[in-house]
Amino acid sequence: MAIGYLNGKIINSDDPVLPIDERGHQFGDGVYEYIRVYGGRPFMMKEHLDRFFKSAEAIKLNLDHSREDIEEITADLIKRSGLSDCDIYMQATRGIAPRNHLFPNVPASISMTVKPFRAMDETLRENGASIKLLPDERWQNCWIKTLNLLPNLLAKQEAFEAGAFEAVLVRDGVVTEGSSSNLFLVKEGELITPPATKHILHGITRMAVIDIAAELGIPVKEETFAPEAVLKADEVFLTSTGIEIVPVTTADDQKIGSGKPGDITKKIYEAFMKRV
Ligand code: PDD
Repeated sequence: MAIGYLNGKIINSDDPVLPIDERGHQFGDGVYEYIRVYGGRPFMMKEHLDRFFKSAEAIKLNLDHSREDIEEITADLIKRSGLSDCDIYMQATRGIAPRNHLFPNVPASISMTVKPFRAMDETLRENGASIKLLPDERWQNCWIKTLNLLPNLLAKQEAFEAGAFEAVLVRDGVVTEGSSSNLFLVKEGELITPPATKHILHGITRMAVIDIAAELGIPVKEETFAPEAVLKADEVFLTSTGIEIVPVTTADDQKIGSGKPGDITKKIYEAFMKRV
């Protein structure tokens, strides 16, 4: 049984538990978090919960659950699952009510699942991944982790169909982020990543990498850059909870740097793995 939680109950998440009139799937009217559990412990849980509550507040969603409630439920789910290396997905929506664009006067819904970690193809980490630069067609508030991921999905699928691992998005001439990751460049020994404006998700892995760089004495610039800077970088890498740190060696079919994963990327990845 796949273990989950829905509004106060432990559930089998394979069961059809959601009514049709649930605003998450009718409107994408909700927010979510995706957290990795290493050795039975959720990584950077505090930061994920900070973001979860900020996202909820940003869409005017009042959660009945406190941080402590969520921490307790996730710990219980992990224990029940018997898994030590797994993923937590949590989602809060504006609840269950007949379809109407106006906010209903019903309690928010909250659901969580714990699943075995879906490992990425590790050859990507060894050989480097490819990216495709595509227009960022999302709304203005990409810092809110909402369920509305259609532009992200379309970009990811387009990149995949072109043989690339990730779509890297460009808005008004500057690179923002990947369809489900943040992006870093290495240039002359420094890290460069787009600033945490409202046009990117303020990634937790991004935050960890900035902290690790400080620890390793690698300077970090949070600056905007044009797509050409990606092609001219010495090294490029992507970060997210699911993929951790993945070197990028090709962008739009052009080789980046030596065409192999770079030393600074490897150093940061090693330091990251020590943390988790
Ligand atoms: N996505 N940018 C976007 C648009 C993302 O969707 C994600 C993560 C990130 C990286 O954030 P973090 O380091 O906090 O995981 C950046 C998750 C993994 C998802 O949608 O499943």
